[in-house]
Amino acid sequence: MLRFGQPDTLRGVALQIDPNTFEHNFYRVLTGVVVPRPIAFVSTISTDGVVNLAPYSFFNAVASDPPTIVFSSSRRAGSKAKDTLTNVEETGEFVVNVVVDDIAEAMNKTAAEFPVEVNEFEIAGLSEAPSVKVKAPRVAESPVNMECRLKQVVDLGADPEHGHGLVIGEVIYMHIRDDLIDGHRINHQLLKPTGRLAGSMYCRTADSFEMVRPVYEG
Ligand SMILES: Cc1cc2nc3c(=O)[nH]c(=O)nc-3n(C[C@H](O)[C@H](O)[C@H](O)COP(=O)(O)O)c2cc1C
Repeated sequence: MLRFGQPDTLRGVALQIDPNTFEHNFYRVLTGVVVPRPIAFVSTISTDGVVNLAPYSFFNAVASDPPTIVFSSSRRAGSKAKDTLTNVEETGEFVVNVVVDDIAEAMNKTAAEFPVEVNEFEIAGLSEAPSVKVKAPRVAESPVNMECRLKQVVDLGADPEHGHGLVIGEVIYMHIRDDLIDGHRINHQLLKPTGRLAGSMYCRTADSFEMVRPVYEG
């Protein structure tokens, strides 16, 4: 199925795209091919004490020592500043809750652009659990919560007002539901993390396989 305005005669020929001259939304290309993405369900609290919760799938773990995660947020959704990024920048703290199949629908409910005074825990029917090192609450229904301290926000995009903020955070405390711990491993068959594909599509991780990494003997 060809899209992005390419004539049918190009079928079978690799589509070559320069993002700088691409006339459609490059977001759809990028998020269509970098898949599946894990979902950070980020809980924060504003300086006024309003709790916030929202999903972010431009998310990954990037270092283990110091334990470091990143997620990226557009600065604005239309005319509204994104509450998560505002709260992270103002308080320097947040919690990343892992999205698993049981809470995927609840996660989706929190993704509408609610006004700043709305606590999305209530919208989604999720419960707040106290954190140990940060003020923002954890999602009690999520089996893994990472309490994080902000290291840096890197501005992406020429216009800081409309670009993205890449949040780099250090995990300073971690909660893992004990039934997921299998010896020295987390049992991902029990964890059941949800992956984000493109647009409104998601995937489960039920179909996994093992592949032992080779060792160079030379
Ligand atoms: C699964 C999922 C992943 C998302 N990932 C991102 C993301 O990586 N970056 C982003 O800016 N918005 C992302 N969004 C949109 C935000 O969740 C949405 O704009 C939300 O309203 C932001 O809430 P906040 O203003 O309370 O932070 C995602 C939405 C969904 C459903």
